[in-house]
Amino acid sequence: MSLTPRRIISPIIAALVFSTPFVSYAQRMAVEAEHGMVVSVHELAAQVGADVLQRGGNAVDAAVATGFALGVVYPWAGPLGGGGFMMIHLADGRDIAIDYRERAPAAASRDMYLGPDGNVLKGPGSSTFGWRASGVPGDVAGWALALEKYGSHKLSWAELIEPARRLAADGHHITQFTASRFRSQAEKLGAFADSKKIFLNGGALWRTGDLWRQPELAATLARLQQNGPREFYEGETARLIADAMARNGGTLTLADLKNYTAVERVPVRMTYRGYEIVTMPPPSSSGIALLQMFAMIEPFDVAALGPNSAAKYHLFIEAMRRAYRDRAEYLGDPDFVKVPVAGLMDRNYIAGLMKNFDPAKATPSAGLAPGGPAGWEPPKVASVPSGGFAESTETTHFSIVDAEGNAVANTFTLNGGFGSGVTIPGTGVLMNNEMDDFTSKPGTPNQFRLIQGEANAIAPGKHPLSSMAPTFVFKDGKIFLVTGAPGGSTIINAVFQVITNVIDFNLPVSLAVDTPRIHHQWMPDVVNYDPYGLSKDTMDALRAKGHQFEERNFFGGQLVPVIERYPNDTMTIMVDPATHLRLGAADSRKPDSKAVGY
Ligand code: GLY
Repeated sequence: MSLTPRRIISPIIAALVFSTPFVSYAQRMAVEAEHGMVVSVHELAAQVGADVLQRGGNAVDAAVATGFALGVVYPWAGPLGGGGFMMIHLADGRDIAIDYRERAPAAASRDMYLGPDGNVLKGPGSSTFGWRASGVPGDVAGWALALEKYGSHKLSWAELIEPARRLAADGHHITQFTASRFRSQAEKLGAFADSKKIFLNGGALWRTGDLWRQPELAATLARLQQNGPREFYEGETARLIADAMARNGGTLTLADLKNYTAVERVPVRMTYRGYEIVTMPPPSSSGIALLQMFAMIEPFDVAALGPNSAAKYHLFIEAMRRAYRDRAEYLGDPDFVKVPVAGLMDRNYIAGLMKNFDPAKATPSAGLAPGGPAGWEPPKVASVPSGGFAESTETTHFSIVDAEGNAVANTFTLNGGFGSGVTIPGTGVLMNNEMDDFTSKPGTPNQFRLIQGEANAIAPGKHPLSSMAPTFVFKDGKIFLVTGAPGGSTIINAVFQVITNVIDFNLPVSLAVDTPRIHHQWMPDVVNYDPYGLSKDTMDALRAKGHQFEERNFFGGQLVPVIERYPNDTMTIMVDPATHLRLGAADSRKPDSKAVGY
């Protein structure tokens, strides 16, 4: 399989371009299909999913095949060593949330990432880098659970893994973006022998167009085909992971792998201007924060404010600030802490959060109290300094709708760039650094500069709090939008803005996805924005209200090449209510992304 270079202009297209009046589009058009659609960050993975749909598989079957394929072609975010969330909508009306988030190993403890001085550790041994940074991976268990309960059973587990195995064994041609991702993380990957061998070509670096084979990963996939999903948790693969961890001072054991289970959760839902939004419950913070923001802006005539006005951005920033304030205080793994879901989603409570909203002035984040929902005990959150960080996020989202109207919104992750940096010898499996999504120290920011509270403290077996937001929007009870994004703490705001772009501003789905976005997360009290996304006079008007802007990409650090400056791409499908066409919008922020339908 090879990726067709997008930039090659065929003679036919060239003839059209030069013989007709030139029309310039700022973004790609949505891809239309009558039956099924897969939108993913990598063309080859989208094609694998679309092939499954065409062979009679349903959206869940296609999701499993797409997920495994991303593990091969999008290794910094999608390998088997991570975890995530899958939202499933069945054509019979049921909505299901599968939680396959990583869990903390049994040896994990609340202060495991604090040094003798009480400060959060950096480098080897920390929550971001090396052998101690990984939670127990959930991908394989989550996809197996989804398939067993909601797959069509027309295609077997082994058949759905086969395209990924072939991509790993036969290889695929490295894109410019992939080569740049490997290069940009060379220091981290170079610290681990197998990562250096696989992702850095032994140190020589891969170049655009190189044929890249991953024989160890192909062998792992073949074992999974042969032995089933428990291979990852109890078989040869599990033994290789546990042995490597033991040799290198890691925390994860064979017992941790054996004990891992994915779980089904009840999605959270709320209406917004007549549409129903159905999204991920805890241990993701996304659903509650997202629905709070929609409830906060619903009393305002957002459409009348205009899509790019300072008034709209001011309202959105203030809603974001308040939702992220509550996020920091109240959200954690519901298996371990009592998350006051009903209280947080109560419309009167949410209206109360906006009582101090001033259309003329920013509310300073310092001193902004959380709302105090019903069902919560007084929290213990320390002071809230802001701080720097250097990593990019490595999460990926894909959206699928099949011919019957089943849909999947799936977001999964390794957390930071190439996760912990560790590839387990002999497996080709790159491991996550999801332990950093816990609160290492209350009040001290994590790699996304999120300040987190006691509710998200580390405990054995616990899921770290997430921002991943696989989301459905329904119109008149029918699936209308399937969406989600990567981008750590920015995910919630990206999904929020895509949906308001469609509902409030009636934007075509491709423009709703591609149009510039902003981000505010309570702390640090700054607005991040897509470069060139805000006009100077809009920014001046917002500054006059008291907002501050950050001239950096969403993830801090110094400016990075343009190709890496837009991390929170959203992969979205709209089902046109009139024609029922599936309109796939792959975000142009990610150059290899693609919508493939039939
Ligand atoms: N690791 C990013 C998230 O789960 O939000």
